[in-house]
Amino acid sequence: MYDFKIAADDKATLYRELAAALEALVAGEPDGIANMANAAALIWESLPDLNWAGFYRNVGGELVLGPFQGRAACIRIPFGRGVCGAAAATLQVQRVDDVNAFPGHIACDAASASELVVPIVRDGVLIAVLDLDSPNVARFDAEDEAGCVRLGEILAKAL
Ligand code: SME
Repeated sequence: MYDFKIAADDKATLYRELAAALEALVAGEPDGIANMANAAALIWESLPDLNWAGFYRNVGGELVLGPFQGRAACIRIPFGRGVCGAAAATLQVQRVDDVNAFPGHIACDAASASELVVPIVRDGVLIAVLDLDSPNVARFDAEDEAGCVRLGEILAKAL
C-alpha cells in the first residue's frame, strides 16, 4: 500500500515532498503507462483545486489521451492546437491564467478556468505532456510551474 502524506502549507515543501513521492513511486518500474497512472493519481490527491490531472502521449506526432484523473476528455489533439498542442509544438511550458482567453483552447471540461501544461522531453524528443486544469482562474503560479517541471524531469526517465 502506498500512503503518501503530502499536505505542506508552503508550495516549496509541497513540491519537494511530491517529487520525492513520485521518485519512490516510479523507482524500478519500466512501464510508462503504469507510471503515468500512478503519477496522475498522486498529483490529483496532493494538489488542491484541480479538476483534471493527467497525460497526453506523443503517438506518431499527435497527442493521444493517456492516464488521468478527472472527467472523460478529448482523445486526440494535433500538435499546435489548444494549450496542450502549443506545449507539444514548442516544447515550452504553457501556464495559462484564463483558458477562455487562449486562442484555440480545447474545452474538455467547461469548468476549467486555468491550465498548466509541461512537456516531458527525453533526449530532445517529446514523450508526453503533463496537463493540469483548475476551476480557478490563475490557479498556477511560478512555483507551481517550477514544481511541475521537476515532476516532468522525474517522469522523463520513467516513461
Ligand atoms: N484544455 C486542453 C485540452 C485537454 S483537457 O484540458 C483535459 C487544451 O486546450 O489543450
